[in-house]
Amino acid sequence: MLESRRILLIIGGGIAAYKALDLIRRLRERGASVTPVLTQAGAEFVTPLSVSALAGEKVFGDLFDLTDEAEMGHIELSRSADLIVVAPATADLMAKMAQGHANDLASTLLLATDTPVLLAPAMNVRMWEHAATQRNIVTLRGDGIAFVGPNDGDMACGEFGPGRMAEPLEIVAAAEAALGEGPLAGRRVLVTSGPTHEPIDPVRYIANRSSGAQGTAIAAALRALGAEVVFVTGPADIAPPEGVEVIRVQSAREMLAAVEAALPADAAVFAAAVADWRVRGASDSKLKKTKGGLPALEFEENPDILATVSAMKAGRPGLVVGFAAETDDVVENATAKRARKGCDWILANDVSPGTGIMGGAENAITLISEDGTEAWPRLSKAEVAKRLAHRIAAALG
Ligand code: CTP
Repeated sequence: MLESRRILLIIGGGIAAYKALDLIRRLRERGASVTPVLTQAGAEFVTPLSVSALAGEKVFGDLFDLTDEAEMGHIELSRSADLIVVAPATADLMAKMAQGHANDLASTLLLATDTPVLLAPAMNVRMWEHAATQRNIVTLRGDGIAFVGPNDGDMACGEFGPGRMAEPLEIVAAAEAALGEGPLAGRRVLVTSGPTHEPIDPVRYIANRSSGAQGTAIAAALRALGAEVVFVTGPADIAPPEGVEVIRVQSAREMLAAVEAALPADAAVFAAAVADWRVRGASDSKLKKTKGGLPALEFEENPDILATVSAMKAGRPGLVVGFAAETDDVVENATAKRARKGCDWILANDVSPGTGIMGGAENAITLISEDGTEAWPRLSKAEVAKRLAHRIAAALG
C-alpha cells in the first residue's frame, strides 16, 4: 500500500504517456496522493485536463509560472514528495538528467530534488540501445536512480524489443519497493544464483551452463515486493538486479560461506547451479603440458548448500526453496530431491537440451511442496520469478 505517500509524477513526451493516466489511478487506489507535472512534449500526448481530473490536483507545467512560484517554488515542489516517478521517462529526459540540465520544470525538479527517483523508460528500441542512452543509464544508476522496465514487446512504432514502458501495476510495485512498502517489506530473503567456478589451476576452471537469469529475476521480483534481498552470485553472464545486496563468489565453498554469513533470513531461494564436485588439490601454478600425457584430475564432493541450510537447527530460514534441474523423470526425481535435501519447496525444471531452458529465456516449473505438486505453464523466467515471489509473500504472511 502507499497510504499517505506523496508521489510527484513527471509525465514525459511519448506515446506511453497514455499509460500514465492509468498509473495515476492505480497509485491513488493504493492511498497515494499524486502531484502531476506534464512536460511540454507530454502535453502533446495527454491533456492537462485529463491528468488533473484523475490526479485530483493541479497540473504543473511551466517553470516560469509566477503564480506557482508564489504558491510553491520548484525547489519546494521537488522536495515535498516521498518519491518522484518519471513515466514515461524519455531518452531526452534521461539525457538531461544524466548531464544535469535544468531548462524546463521537469529537469529542474529532478536536479533540485533530494527525494528518491524512479524512472519508467519508454522509447524506440534503437534509441534504448543507442550507446548514448546506455551511457546515460550507467550514469543515472550510479547516481542512485532506480529503474522499472522497459519491457520487451511490440511498440507503437511497429518495432519489437526493449523500450516498451513497464505496465502501471509494475510501476506501482517498483514505487512501493522504492518506498520500502509492498507485501515483503521488512522481510529479508537470501537468493543464490549463477554457476560456480571450480578451479583446476589459476587459469582454468570447471563450470556449467547456468546464465544466472532465473536467480537474477527472482531477486528482482522479491525486491519489487519490498523485500531486503541478499544476492549471493557465482560468475554469471548477466548483471545483478538493482537495489539488492550483491555478494560475489566463485566456488561452491565460497558460496556456502557467504550464505552462512548472510543468515538469518526469513526465506532463502537456492537458484544457483552449484558444481557438485571440485578438483582435489587444485594447483597453485598453471599446469603445463608434459610428455607424460593428460593430467589426471581427481574430484571431491562440494558441500550441498541447500541441504546444509535446510538442516540447520538454529537460524534456519522459515521457508527454504530449492530448484531441481532434471533431465529424466522430472517430478519423481524432484520429489525425492525435496525429501533428501530437507527443503520446503522444490521448483522442478526439465533442463534436457531440447527444452532450451538452461541458459534460455523461459522455464517450465513444477512446484513441489508438502501440499503436493503444481505444474506451471511454460513462462518467461521473469514471470516464473514473479509467481514465486508472490507465493513466498503469501507463505510468509
Ligand atoms: N545445490 C546447492 N549446493 C550444491 C548442489 C546443489 O545448494 N552443492 C542446490 C541448487 O541450488 C538447487 C538444488 O540444490 O536449488 C538442486 O540442485 P540440482 O543440481 O538439481 O541437484 P543436485 O544436488 O546437484 O543433485 P543431482 O546432481 O543428483 O541431480
